[in-house]
Amino acid sequence: MKTANGLEGVIATETSLSNVDGEAGRLIVRDRDIEHWVATQTFDSFAHHMWAGLVEGLPKESEMAGALGEARVALFPYVEARLAHTNDLSTIEGLRFMAAGLPDDDRVPTPLRLAALMPIAAANIIRQQKGQVPVAPNADHSTAEDFLTMCFDKPPSVVEREALDRYLVTVADHGMNASTFAARVVASTNAGVVSAIVGGLCALKGPLHGGAPGPVLDLLDELAGKENIAEALKAKVQKGERLMGFGHRVYRVRDPRAEILKETVATLPKTSGRLKEAMNMEAEIVSFLKTWKPDRPIQTNVEFYTAILLEALDLPRESFVSVFGIGRTLGWTAHAIEQEKHGRLMRPRSRYIGPREEAA
Ligand code: ACO
Repeated sequence: MKTANGLEGVIATETSLSNVDGEAGRLIVRDRDIEHWVATQTFDSFAHHMWAGLVEGLPKESEMAGALGEARVALFPYVEARLAHTNDLSTIEGLRFMAAGLPDDDRVPTPLRLAALMPIAAANIIRQQKGQVPVAPNADHSTAEDFLTMCFDKPPSVVEREALDRYLVTVADHGMNASTFAARVVASTNAGVVSAIVGGLCALKGPLHGGAPGPVLDLLDELAGKENIAEALKAKVQKGERLMGFGHRVYRVRDPRAEILKETVATLPKTSGRLKEAMNMEAEIVSFLKTWKPDRPIQTNVEFYTAILLEALDLPRESFVSVFGIGRTLGWTAHAIEQEKHGRLMRPRSRYIGPREEAA
């Protein structure tokens, strides 16, 4: 039996949640293209579609924003009490700590409580890192509005709120990506949805997955003002560095989410300079990667314009991966429950390549 390095091409499970068509550059979530959901749903109403048929006691689509708001308010004392323990942690590590200790509450479905926990935890960890006091959630706000209000202690503009909503829907689910796979492996042992989501957060943290957008800005800053971009890029890849925000295991064309986010950034007032610079740099990098790896199409992925978008919302670079986690919690929880309901213990095998004792 051949080993599939990095499980490339391996069909690990069946799902009715989402499908990544890497050749066509399409992402289908719950039988519709992601562009449809982004155009018609908020993050809160989209939660209903992600969890439909999986989560028991699910509020109606029209009641989802209120249910998430109430859950945020109910969870705030828990977050406030644990904030001091996140002092020396990055935002994503703090989020992982908060998720891991989520207390039981049979009255509200666990996926809903996890989706409510993430924005209050992330916003207040970000505040604490800036030496600011916590801000309580408001049950009348949507998730996107409340997250930004808590982060900055002032309400966002309509375009800012809508831009974040579009982002959160865009990244909510994406087939068998590394963090969703990790969440499903944990769920397959019947360890529970909270443990599965902690597994997802751990996998998301890495720079080859959700941790890429902060380093995308570092790359853009580093390249700005360089006379010969291609030479600078060559020097980086020759040292074994990856160009962050480019490449994908499944897409062989441009990631469709990159286009959605690029259009979304353009709606924000503060980005014109950075957006133009990013678009020019994107063209340079894609063209360089074509010559660097002519046999492997390496195109822009979701993280490139995620970086530009979250920067335009004034969020700190270090926190970008946690904002991704807020959105992806919908996908992780849905996958974890689908796995619990329809899956089997995930237990692959490995090929032993270590030394063997000589047979006597
Ligand atoms: N920059 C430079 N070289 C690259 C890049 C890149 N961004 N992406 C792939 N390559 C090269 C690799 O160096 C490798 O070369 P080699 O065969 O000479 O060793 C070859 O292309 C294949 O690389 P793999 O890592 O095997 O390809 P894979 O398709 O599995 O990689 C990945 C996907 C990890 C995302 C990769 O493209 C990468 O590291 N990108 C940069 C990090 C990034 O943007 N991550 C976010 C991804 S989107 C998400 O997870 C939400």
